[in-house]
Amino acid sequence: PRKNLTTSNHLRHVESMAHLPSGAGRITRLNALILGEGLASEEDDLVFPSEDFSSQSHVSSPQKYLEMYQRSVHDPSGFWSDIASEFYWREKWGQQVYHENFDVRKGKIKIEWFKGGMTNICYNCLDRNIESGKGDKTAIYWEGNEPGLDSSMTYNQLLARVCQLANYLKDVGVHKGDAVVIYLPMLMELPIAMLACARIGAIHSVVFAGFSAESLAQRIIDCRPKVVITCNAVRRGSKIIYLKEIVDSALLESAQKGIVTDVCLTYENDSAMKKEMTKWTKGRDIWWQDVILKYPVTCDVEWVDAEDPLFLLYTSGSTGKPKGVLHTTGGYMVYTATTFKYAFDYKPTDIYWCTADCGWITGHSYVTYGPLLNGATVVVFEGAPNYPDVGRCWDIVDKYKVSIFYTAPTLSWSSGYANNKHSLALYKSLSPIEHVSRYSRKSLRVLGSVGEPINPSAWRWFFNVIGDARCPISDTWWQTETGGFMITPLPGAWPQKPGSATFPFFGVQPVIVDEKGVEIEGECSGYLCVKSSWPGAFRTLHGDHERYETTYFSAFPGYYFSGDGCSRDKDGYYWLTGRVDDVINVSGHRIGTAEVESALVSHPQCAEAAVVGVEHEVKGQGIYAFVTLVEGVPYSDDLRKNLVMVVRNQIGAFAAPDKIHWAPGLPKTRSGKIMRRILRKIASRQLDELGDTSTLADPTVVDQLIALADC
Ligand code: PRX
Repeated sequence: PRKNLTTSNHLRHVESMAHLPSGAGRITRLNALILGEGLASEEDDLVFPSEDFSSQSHVSSPQKYLEMYQRSVHDPSGFWSDIASEFYWREKWGQQVYHENFDVRKGKIKIEWFKGGMTNICYNCLDRNIESGKGDKTAIYWEGNEPGLDSSMTYNQLLARVCQLANYLKDVGVHKGDAVVIYLPMLMELPIAMLACARIGAIHSVVFAGFSAESLAQRIIDCRPKVVITCNAVRRGSKIIYLKEIVDSALLESAQKGIVTDVCLTYENDSAMKKEMTKWTKGRDIWWQDVILKYPVTCDVEWVDAEDPLFLLYTSGSTGKPKGVLHTTGGYMVYTATTFKYAFDYKPTDIYWCTADCGWITGHSYVTYGPLLNGATVVVFEGAPNYPDVGRCWDIVDKYKVSIFYTAPTLSWSSGYANNKHSLALYKSLSPIEHVSRYSRKSLRVLGSVGEPINPSAWRWFFNVIGDARCPISDTWWQTETGGFMITPLPGAWPQKPGSATFPFFGVQPVIVDEKGVEIEGECSGYLCVKSSWPGAFRTLHGDHERYETTYFSAFPGYYFSGDGCSRDKDGYYWLTGRVDDVINVSGHRIGTAEVESALVSHPQCAEAAVVGVEHEVKGQGIYAFVTLVEGVPYSDDLRKNLVMVVRNQIGAFAAPDKIHWAPGLPKTRSGKIMRRILRKIASRQLDELGDTSTLADPTVVDQLIALADC
């Protein structure tokens, strides 16, 4: 029974799938769906796409998915080379489509796709689409922070702008394999800069423009760019952020460590700040507008091997040092394009808006590469979702007739600037009449969610209120490391369950393992791993292949370990439950507890710090810091503010702790290990669930902490 746009809960029980062999559970359950043989249990809420939607979608039924999925896992070479052939390759890849060693016990972890193939992702995004007649199609609609400030660019114009910058970069000595750091807000110049690097084979490393000077310096020191690209300032809501000053400090700091960047190419973002007001270092700083227009609007492409690096993107891990996730060209290209097409059921008439900033992986794969590879029209938004008011997103949807809208359960995730916390949960509490219903939103066809688990009530609100119960939601689970979607609905293919990311994308073989690394079958909960490579997988951590292997491939040998917990229900649907490591997900931003702790202890009056995540109504998770002061230092609100300031300065505003809890001591085992389990319980005030505290070196610490909870 296929219901039109409604939820159904009267489907009869079928036998438990627990006895089914590994992997088959999912497929057998899907067979049940296909055959209409009774589906989920009564309490399960299934939301079906309309007949109309399904019949016009790329993957219109579970059968179709199943056929494609089975081919993708049984014949990955055939499946992916058919798709890759739709792109332009200067030279085709070698005999072997892919090569992988996923098992640390068998030697070095190695993943390669389309090795030997020569291509260029910028060429495939722009030239190829222009050659097929899309030159006059709008590539980017740009919406400024201030309503009314906007512009747009066709594919032809975008190519010309990219070529000018590419020529400039070559002229100042950027060669294939050199790094370029991009520290820009959501101006059109950000995707332009990424594409210009890709065109000449340079490796871009975009640093989210909400990171502090210290974080930026750390990344500059790690990847040693020839050029840093930035702008003088940006307006975010009612604030102005002086980005060039942050870059100046970062360049000073990195120079002191011996890493000197010769060129700082600076875009004059005159709606935020005039040129004349900008501090300038002669010889190093160059105004974008002064030089770029002089360069030719065509630029030869640097053909690169599919396995040549495309970009580095730093992300947080469980130690203090950010990890430089490295993605290569060919596999990433094929994977982002394919996931974009299927997960959003993309059609050439769509107008697509992803609220993410290009400083995060979502902006790389699903603002820039995935959509442009498909020849899509993309909305790029500079501002904040709550400026001038919380109706801004729907205003933009109506203005550009957005048909695919992709965001995070915490909308502020789009920006990451700490002052813009707006979650779907929060919108929900605001009157829809006031902020949503006054916009038509009729153009919307597909909605997307990413970055953190979306709870069923936020899902339903997104579905019913924003999408008028008309638009399927693609809740896409993936990571910086995975390059593209891993577990995601294909919106026309099957019924959705609010809060579940549904099934794996083509070629992805997820497994759930127990703490011993043993695969669990059927309905279960455990650690989410993947058992074979997919084209979009990251290939290493910059300069530290060993850390790559130990972080991701050693916990459960034979598998890639995601760091996430997950359960699979009796129908084979996957439900992500959040991080199981020392990473906190604040509004969809990954923040390592160790990073925040090391910022806190850098304060001279802080002796020790322990950070845990706590549930937060708006941000998903909040940052809760237990701080032990140097002996004799009194507690004070000023000190509390200073400690928060240290974190803002060292990492960025989005990592600022929500709570500083004074801690005369921390609960430690006799061997000195901090028992975070206890801290989490104290932080969430689950004081009757503290568990056994007798193994602590000093059990009285717990009572002291409880006594200070509300100080
Ligand atoms: O915990 C998962 C969560 O975000 C983490 C990846 O963060 P990052 O690399 O910054 O990439 C964010 C955008 C892809 C994951 O380990 N996460 C991401 N998407 C979802 C999610 N958790 C639940 N549901 C999702 N759809």
